[in-house]
Amino acid sequence: MSQNDVVLVIGGANGIGAACCEVMHAHGWSILVADKDEAGAEATAARLDGRSFALDVTDIAAIESLADRIDRDIGRLAALVVSSGIFQPNVPVEQAPADLFDTITAVNLRGTYHANRIFGARMAAQGGGAIVNMASATAHASSPNNIYGPGKAAIINMTKCFAGEWGGRGVRVNSVSPGIVLVPRIRGLKAKGDRYPPDLDEQMALRRCVEPREVAETVEFLASSRASGITGTDIVVDCGWATGALWNAYLGGLR
Ligand SMILES: NC(=O)c1ccc[n+]([C@@H]2O[C@H](COP(=O)([O-])OP(=O)(O)OC[C@H]3O[C@@H](n4cnc5c(N)ncnc54)[C@H](O)[C@@H]3O)[C@@H](O)[C@H]2O)c1
Repeated sequence: MSQNDVVLVIGGANGIGAACCEVMHAHGWSILVADKDEAGAEATAARLDGRSFALDVTDIAAIESLADRIDRDIGRLAALVVSSGIFQPNVPVEQAPADLFDTITAVNLRGTYHANRIFGARMAAQGGGAIVNMASATAHASSPNNIYGPGKAAIINMTKCFAGEWGGRGVRVNSVSPGIVLVPRIRGLKAKGDRYPPDLDEQMALRRCVEPREVAETVEFLASSRASGITGTDIVVDCGWATGALWNAYLGGLR
């Protein structure tokens, strides 16, 4: 990248998206933050000398009008990061409301699709750009996340489809699959002993969960020209969670 390349981080108000904004700013990018959480987006942008926009990714017309506004007021986007997402409550499928599938899919898969479609087409027309989508470790294995996980698996496949679609016009499209990332929400659940078992860290080859900064550094790498030969790829950043999985069956845990 050249100094001051502009990145738009959708979902940059909080968590991994906010870490992406911070890390990318430290690497010299100019930061645009778009999020449904308008106050959070403003706070991230204010810390980083960036600009913020209110955006609900379920609203296709709003994504179009944000793209028009950026074209008009700011100019070329070098990169797009899509980190907006919502999570699945941990309940058996028999107890899940019928509309849960649509609620989660509307933000995670449909929102990511339309953001890629709208901004990717503009990047292809301008002759280049990079997109990084947020998938998940749950895309790669069975888990209780029977809506969230399949949606993330679809994001990985969609990423490969768009990489093929626009590669000839200089647009690279990749995804990152985080494991359990210590964003404030998860740090809180873990500290209370809610949802996660006390030996959670021991299940990871690196004996700890992922820091948001570690996902953000991977996102920044994929968005930058240092990854100029990489497209259609998913990088797992899980501190070796998947690596540890089969050790339970053999030894009751990692050695
Ligand atoms: N934290 C983890 O352990 C983890 C693991 C794997 C994947 N992920 C993925 O990483 C991404 C970020 O997760 P996080 O943990 O930082 O969550 P988070 O809740 O801290 O941040 C998600 C952001 O998305 C925004 N958002 C939600 N719905 C939106 C909508 N309709 N339109 C626009 N913005 C919206 C929220 O306001 C928030 O700022 C998500 O895609 C998530 O699925 C997270």
